[in-house]
Amino acid sequence: MQRQNNFKYESQKLGSWYFTVAVILFGAQLVLGLVSAIQFIYPSFLYDILDFSITRMIHINALVVWMVYAMIGSVYYLLPDETGIETVGIGMGKLLFWILTLAVTVVVLVYIFIQVGPATQATIWLITEGREYIEAPRWADIGIVVVVLGFLANTFLTALKGRRTGIMTVILSDMIALAGLYLAGMYFTDNISMDQYWWWWVIHLWVEATWEVMVGALAAYALIKVVDAKREIVEMWLWIEVAMLFGSGILGLGHHYFWIGTPEYWWEIGALFSALEPMPLIGMFVHVLYDWGKEKGLKENSGVDTSSNNTPALLWLISNGFGNFLGAGVWGFFHTLPQVNIYTHGTQFTAAHGHLAFFGAYATILTAMFYMGIQGKYGIKKLRATFASKMAIFLITFGVLGMTVALTIAGYEQVLIARAQLGATWDAFFVAQNQLWMSQAMDWRLIMGIVTTVGFFYLVKDLLTISKSPKNVYK
Ligand code: HEM
Ligand code: HEM
Ligand SMILES: [Fe+2]
Repeated sequence: MQRQNNFKYESQKLGSWYFTVAVILFGAQLVLGLVSAIQFIYPSFLYDILDFSITRMIHINALVVWMVYAMIGSVYYLLPDETGIETVGIGMGKLLFWILTLAVTVVVLVYIFIQVGPATQATIWLITEGREYIEAPRWADIGIVVVVLGFLANTFLTALKGRRTGIMTVILSDMIALAGLYLAGMYFTDNISMDQYWWWWVIHLWVEATWEVMVGALAAYALIKVVDAKREIVEMWLWIEVAMLFGSGILGLGHHYFWIGTPEYWWEIGALFSALEPMPLIGMFVHVLYDWGKEKGLKENSGVDTSSNNTPALLWLISNGFGNFLGAGVWGFFHTLPQVNIYTHGTQFTAAHGHLAFFGAYATILTAMFYMGIQGKYGIKKLRATFASKMAIFLITFGVLGMTVALTIAGYEQVLIARAQLGATWDAFFVAQNQLWMSQAMDWRLIMGIVTTVGFFYLVKDLLTISKSPKNVYK
């Protein structure tokens, strides 16, 4: 059969709309990351036009929003495949997509052109709430809740009507938790300890519990599609991970309660449970690599074609196995005990972990889903990696690893000089900030950021053109 230009289901088409906006926001994230990194080295760059506080805010907000878009897109994409039917309220789904996209555009324009406001309720409602990662103003919060309720209704109604798989059951329950937690971030109080307490319910419980469960489910789905993994095996792993993630991830929240004015019993709770957090990540790692290798071995023995159905997606899935384990598990574990965290807290070490964890655990697998979207759109039986696919994964991964190493070195220097030697005073911060190790690390972060961005251009080129590659096999 020939290359077609159509999705089998409208729900998959809607998923691809979400993917498109996600890729655009990913690009915006990188550009604003580069601007922030330049400002670290040349503080006068764009001074008074677009200050560091604004560029940094857009960098990390674009990050969270593109990932949420890509997750919603992935659910709309796999929904008809898993349930066997078209999404029930597809018209409403499309309408909500446009409402959400319009709201995101308005929020970003306000961030860029209005930037800050007086310390009044009006600023919280119309400009920004000023809470890292979820800075969106109150009106947008309410809009997001409405859109998400519509999305939940759509997925639930479809799943109830169609076939119910283990993957679907996990996604449905996870989405309730994911959406519910967002409400905790809308609670506003001017007591800074209480504010931080609830803020972490969104930030930690998202990335270390509900998002991890979501990518576990996406990995399970993708492995079935890409390497024909056995459903019973991947779903068994999925259930184990869900049980472990909810066990360690929820009380692991304690590692953010060490120094914000919460009771001291959080030291023990946080230390114990967050130290257990890497366990499910090892499970995921094994899940991806073991299933892939096992299926390949079984089939090779029986003489079946074992080549993957979507090589770029498989490459990104494998990097997800490694990345999640390294970024969240290893770099997270480094600083999760209070005895260590008292020195590393809020240093560049935290930024090193933040970059590698968000990238390794989420950017990788969501990029794999972009490739699944391309495969579905053009009805390609076997999607083959091109030169651009390989350049994209190599440069992006190499760039992010390079940034992580640079930031880790900077963090180490801060721990030694600002914290251990000079006793964490205000002066000590600046002494450490002016060391050669710090300034060189900041240069390397920028260089590696540029490498990442070049890789991103290859990714965009590839997503736009890979369907035309003569190496692909059609049905
Ligand atoms: C994919 C999962 C994860 C992501 C995306 C992630 C991301 C982040 C980010 C962005 C921060 C900085 C927050 C801020 O701005 O204050 C952070 C902080 C932290 N993370 Fe993670 N993390 C993940 C998993 C983990 C795991 C599994 C552990 C422990 C084993 C961990 C331990 C920590 C600790 C201790 C801090 C506080 C650092 C400080 O005191 O400055 N993280 N994480
Ligand atoms: C062009 C590449 C990039 C550059 C130059 C860059 C640069 C930066 C800079 C300068 C900051 C502010 C750090 C600070 O306040 O000290 C930052 C924060 C952050 N970036 Fe990036 N970034 C890039 C790509 C990424 C990617 C690919 C991800 C994840 C997928 C990411 C996730 C984050 C996170 C989570 C933070 C907040 C970290 C924290 O507060 O601990 N960035 N980035
Ligand atoms: Fe955490």
